[in-house]
Amino acid sequence: MTAFNPTKNPIMKWLDSDSGLVNELGRLRTPAYVYSHRKFKERTARLVEALSQVAPSVSIFYSMKANAARTMMKWTREAHFMTEVSSIGELRYALESGQTADNILLLGPGKDEGLMNLALDRHIFGIAVESFRELSYVAANHNGKTRIFIRINADRNVPGLTESMFGPESKFGIDISRLGEALEKLRGLDSDMVGIHYYMGSQLTDHETMLYFHREILTYVARYRDRFSSIDMGGGFGIPYSETEHELDLDAFAIGLGKTLSDLSLNDKHIYFESGRYIAADAGIFLTRIMDVKGDDHRKVLVTDGGMNDFMRIAFMKEHHPIAHVIPDRSSSKMVNSVISGPLCTPLDCFATDALIPADVKEGDMIAIFKAGAYGLTLSPVFFLLHSMPSEYAIRDGEISEITRKDLRTDEIFSSLY
Ligand SMILES: Cc1ncc(COP(=O)(O)O)c(C=O)c1O
Repeated sequence: MTAFNPTKNPIMKWLDSDSGLVNELGRLRTPAYVYSHRKFKERTARLVEALSQVAPSVSIFYSMKANAARTMMKWTREAHFMTEVSSIGELRYALESGQTADNILLLGPGKDEGLMNLALDRHIFGIAVESFRELSYVAANHNGKTRIFIRINADRNVPGLTESMFGPESKFGIDISRLGEALEKLRGLDSDMVGIHYYMGSQLTDHETMLYFHREILTYVARYRDRFSSIDMGGGFGIPYSETEHELDLDAFAIGLGKTLSDLSLNDKHIYFESGRYIAADAGIFLTRIMDVKGDDHRKVLVTDGGMNDFMRIAFMKEHHPIAHVIPDRSSSKMVNSVISGPLCTPLDCFATDALIPADVKEGDMIAIFKAGAYGLTLSPVFFLLHSMPSEYAIRDGEISEITRKDLRTDEIFSSLY
């Protein structure tokens, strides 16, 4: 057992507040996601500041698949992010949530005509086409306003990535060797309407590997430089989840990429990036209440009210998120190694096997899982076992408010499914 030090507790640091706000967390309806505007602003300021060094004209899309909460969408609009969507649901929701059509980019494999028609009818900013079928359809039905980005795919995976989106025979994009052929199909279009898109993968934290791949792709793309006006380089900006991972050096990345663009005379192009995780992950925690405390003074087993149905990332990605006990006033004890499991009838529903939790932990206390703001609720199988959906709250200027949305309780889920 190790000594417990409340001032070092990550929940206090995350809230950047005295115990008043921590005690308020104790009153929330769990399981719940809580999003912090202060954290959101810290991350977005860092991203925008770094990426603006890449080229004279840089814009960033917020990838709403990371977190589609109404509040997160509003915060990203306030921060002047454009929005990247990847399905008909996301496109409709982005439009309804207040984003203007000319700030929306549609991408993703397997788009059907209904989706492409909606995007074209609404004159959205751009569509990234992922196959010759999509390219021909969008070109034939073009509205004169929506940019067409040709998504290209390199034939090599980015090493060391769980989510590499390059590689041979990929569902993503058009093979880079056929870029000339693809551009030929857009000959009639003004180059202002044409862009290049690529996305090498997610959770990238090594700027040198990123720069190496960007240079390879851009060197190939540069031979067609007169045929397009913009390049969307995706992003994949990763974050450290566990203590053994390191922060991506965004400045070194941006400066290196800027140099590549200048070397290749591509720095007059409009440059776009996409990001979900870097913007939203740190801004969110997942809160769950302890229902049962088992075990002894050496090892506790905690069963919580929220499970992988609410927060799937740990079970699915095998990622180690930081976890902490939300300090109640009484806490002053030693720390004990603990297993933290959700309520579902599967051993996969486990958040941690070795979390350090105060030995005087009690039923009714809460656990916070950090870096849960991206791919939290959006990635979770909320219908599994028909529990109620988790609540969502936002903290802004020291105030906690519940995010209003249709609250699917168990009976509503059941009646809409069966
Ligand atoms: C094409 C594309 N753009 C953007 C993203 C967002 O990635 P991240 O949240 O890691 O920034 C993804 C994630 O899968 C993606 O596939």
